[in-house]
Amino acid sequence: LSRYKVAVLGSGAWACAAVRMIAQNTSQDDPEDEFDDDVRMWVHQGGELVDTINSTHENPAYFPGIPLGPNVIATGNLAEAVADADLLVFCAPHQYIRGICKQLMGKVKPGAAAISLTKGMRVTPEGPELISQIVRRTLGVDCSVLMGGNIAEDVGREQLSEAVIGYYNLEHAQRFKKLFRRPYFRVTLLPDPVGAELCGTLKNIVALGVGMVDGMGMGPNSKAAVIRQGLLEMRDFCQALYPSVRDDTFLECCGVGDLVATCIGGRHRRVAEAWTRSAIESAVAGEGNGAGRSWAELEKELLQGQKLQGVLTSNEVQQILRTRGWESKYPLFTTINRIVNGHLPPHLVVDYLEGAKADI
Ligand code: 13P
Repeated sequence: LSRYKVAVLGSGAWACAAVRMIAQNTSQDDPEDEFDDDVRMWVHQGGELVDTINSTHENPAYFPGIPLGPNVIATGNLAEAVADADLLVFCAPHQYIRGICKQLMGKVKPGAAAISLTKGMRVTPEGPELISQIVRRTLGVDCSVLMGGNIAEDVGREQLSEAVIGYYNLEHAQRFKKLFRRPYFRVTLLPDPVGAELCGTLKNIVALGVGMVDGMGMGPNSKAAVIRQGLLEMRDFCQALYPSVRDDTFLECCGVGDLVATCIGGRHRRVAEAWTRSAIESAVAGEGNGAGRSWAELEKELLQGQKLQGVLTSNEVQQILRTRGWESKYPLFTTINRIVNGHLPPHLVVDYLEGAKADI
């Protein structure tokens, strides 16, 4: 009997939480013995980190103190990671996926199936392209998505979490469900892959807005107002681009679930709060036009090598809104984008109708 071999492409906090669940399922809880025990994990830094993961079974760089499993085999070599793999799990920051796929062209096993855990999109002159679409187009494989309110550390600590698999191919989705589901990780299947993936992407913009509200010292009412407007704009944007996206997707864990988790406890909220405090402090001190510290600086300081997707996503989404003349229809997204880029002061996040009208 040939068993499905799994490769995880990425080694950040979410990739580590994911590989840990997969490794538990392939080694301990695989009654039908469908999966090969060993799970390969591609670590882009290679070198010392690969050796450390393989000897200690932990990733001290991005997921300290949480064992990944003895059957996780790290490699710095992308081709080696995917060699013979039947199931490919993409979990790298969205700006790197295209480059990874280009390197993988011609190296993926025919008939392999992929799933993307990456939250982000790419914008080309022809329009938006989702991560799963990049994988499908460049590698010619089916690609599902796994999305939900999944703060990596909480999943690593085995706290109840929910996810959906948005799919085109039901058989592949059912196989991926067996690969991910754990007693603490509830997975359901959703036949709206585009809606699920876009929700996971867009909610990062809203979380930046919530971090700004926190940075200004405002309380739950204001945050709830930003979250509510954010959810409306997420729905309108998804359905304007892809009319097939279903209303009820926004009530799933990939919609309101992920939005709430990220706005309460995510990195976007945290970094945006620090960014806003710094902008306000430097405005009060009359320094540097009130610009404060940069996103890149705070990302480096607060996330220790992890990448923030939302600032890039905000700029990518804004490119679409601008090109299509939709900015006034998305006042919160537009205002957040203008604040993020230093064109408006942070307090306008709660006055987004004014922010979107501002002449900048
Ligand atoms: P952050 O990137 O803000 O930590 O959000 C993580 C996430 O997507 C939770 O589902």
